[in-house]
Amino acid sequence: METNQDCYILGIESSCDETAASVVKNGRTVLSNVISSQIDIHTLYGGVVPEIASRKHMERINQVIRQALSEAGLSLSDITAIAVTYGPGLVGALLVGVAEAKAIAFATKKPLVGVHHIEGHICANYIENKELKPPFGCLVVSGGHTHLVKVGGYGEYEILGKTRDDAAGEAFDKVARAIGLGYPGGPKIDKAAKSGNPLALDFPRAKVGGSEYDFSFSGLKSAVLNYLNGCKMKGEDIVTEDVAASFQKAVVDVLVEHSERAIEEYGFTEFAIAGGVASNSALRAGMEEMCNRKGVKFYRPSPIFCTDNAAMIAVAGYYEYMAGTRSGTDLNAMPALKLGER
Ligand code: KG4
Ligand code: ZN
Repeated sequence: METNQDCYILGIESSCDETAASVVKNGRTVLSNVISSQIDIHTLYGGVVPEIASRKHMERINQVIRQALSEAGLSLSDITAIAVTYGPGLVGALLVGVAEAKAIAFATKKPLVGVHHIEGHICANYIENKELKPPFGCLVVSGGHTHLVKVGGYGEYEILGKTRDDAAGEAFDKVARAIGLGYPGGPKIDKAAKSGNPLALDFPRAKVGGSEYDFSFSGLKSAVLNYLNGCKMKGEDIVTEDVAASFQKAVVDVLVEHSERAIEEYGFTEFAIAGGVASNSALRAGMEEMCNRKGVKFYRPSPIFCTDNAAMIAVAGYYEYMAGTRSGTDLNAMPALKLGER
């Protein structure tokens, strides 16, 4: 393995509604990070339409990869290996990136590395924190996932807890739709909550029987919907900002509380957050306050590396590549791939 030579990974991501490509040098230096978002199209339908996502990925992927290479000042022949998200996600969307990566790897005879999307989110923390290395704890909160993870080593993940129903981001999106803020809900609730009172309404913080680190957000979502219906029936005005702030506080309280218990039990001295919801300002502030109180070093990626991007896939791909992981031409999209499985 070429350990004394620079390593350039081309990362490709197409698991949901972002078509993205990136070139990362030696696992930590982002040379380019191109993201073509489809949000404007899906906004018309109030959420991601899988067939449209696949079609848009197909239309854009070649151009996005070309741009990532050109911004990095490299050509395909300079690339060491190709890393691609192969799960979890929307099957048709994943297939576009996987087929593209396989075609490039085959044509250039370069190694191909299939990457788990959540592993990518976790690895986003390595980009701006050159000193961060495992072991550490990580809370991954995105539109599709809510995982509390022990990162034991590069590529070594133990899931301590996960959501039993809705993901945190999904709850943000559903509540945003119900209070008329539209899609995507997370950033809109974040913004509205800034001028609302987080103590105005007392929404439930769900406890889940069985695993003490598991989450449940569907009860909270129902409580918000019930509250809204109740107001409508009684003819009472709804203060959108207060609902947003109180809902957001309920989510953040649970995420911080679970993370704090994991820090105590597992003795993490470093703790990171990742995924789209990790760009939420209240979550960032709450986690930072808790970590400071516990004397734990807190890490979070810049918002651009929290939401879906290919730089995080290239970083995860680098560590997998260095560990000897190689995917064959039989690599397939795995919509329900579990973290730690191949
Ligand atoms: O990681 P991501 O881009 O895609 C998935 O892998 O799911 O996460 C997207 C999710 C969406 O549910 C979006 O509403 C949420 O992240 N999100 C936020 C914020 N920005 C994005 N949620 C709360 N506050 C935000 N500022
Ligand atoms: Zn994601």
